Amino acid sequence: MTHHHERTAGKVALITGAASGMGASHARMLAVHGARVVITDVADEAGQDLVREIGEDRAYFIHLDVTDYQAWEQAVEATLERFGKLDVLVNNAGIFTAGSIEDATLDDWDKTLDIDLNGTFYGMKAALPALKKNATASIINISSIAGVTGFKNRAAYSTAKWAVQGLTKTSALDLAKYNIRVNSVHPGSVETPLTANLQRGLGQVPLGRAAQVKEISSMIIHLASDESTFTTGASFIIDGGETAGNNLRDDQ
Ligand SMILES: NC(=O)c1ccc[n+]([C@@H]2O[C@H](COP(=O)([O-])OP(=O)(O)OC[C@H]3O[C@@H](n4cnc5c(N)ncnc54)[C@H](O)[C@@H]3O)[C@@H](O)[C@H]2O)c1
Repeated sequence: MTHHHERTAGKVALITGAASGMGASHARMLAVHGARVVITDVADEAGQDLVREIGEDRAYFIHLDVTDYQAWEQAVEATLERFGKLDVLVNNAGIFTAGSIEDATLDDWDKTLDIDLNGTFYGMKAALPALKKNATASIINISSIAGVTGFKNRAAYSTAKWAVQGLTKTSALDLAKYNIRVNSVHPGSVETPLTANLQRGLGQVPLGRAAQVKEISSMIIHLASDESTFTTGASFIIDGGETAGNNLRDDQ
């Protein structure tokens, strides 16, 4: 039965890095709103726990390292076998490495670009044939505010996240003919396991705090649903005002 509050009823969504943090929150909220969710991650145990929590009838776990293109093709195939279609792709898996170009290692650079950027491209490419089959479909790429501004001490991360924004806008142009929307989401400071040990200054954040994961998931619901059928090529900043201007300057 479909309820009017189920904003993503009937949708099948594949989320990467969905075993923890924001990805897990997106999966939970999509399921609450009636979607069937494919939880993919390299963390098998946490992913399978989340499937049990959401319910095996509407959640399914697939081991997927986003840097492995062949694994991507298999994951899309397994999704079609399990749920019959794929409407929504959320490219959420990501890592950050610290360092300016002066101290970032070549290894950090390669690893960050591989997961955060190549993983997103591979996902879009592998999912495309399945997404094309629907009347409308949505790709949601998780970037960061490090993908709309410069970001101290994050040379590789910021580069990857800017590139994700470029790939998003370019693909919005290319995939519009299939009625596939492509948008990017740019969270600011969010409380997740990724950032649990990070010393962050929040003085630049007008709202004066980090976000809870649900405050990002509500945008994912909007972009996954048919509420956003005219929305493509857009970048959604959810940062408590962090990039709105200089919050530290306060001339009297
Ligand atoms: N937390 C923040 O403040 C913040 C801010 C802006 C953007 N982001 C972005 O949001 C996304 C989610 O971040 P989070 O804070 O929830 O992180 P998280 O570490 O809690 O979750 C990331 C998940 O990705 C998985 N993962 C790592 N490498 C992978 C790979 N190669 N293949 C598949 N899965 C892999 C991890 O196992 C983990 O479950 C990331 O892209 C991150 O860059 C986070």
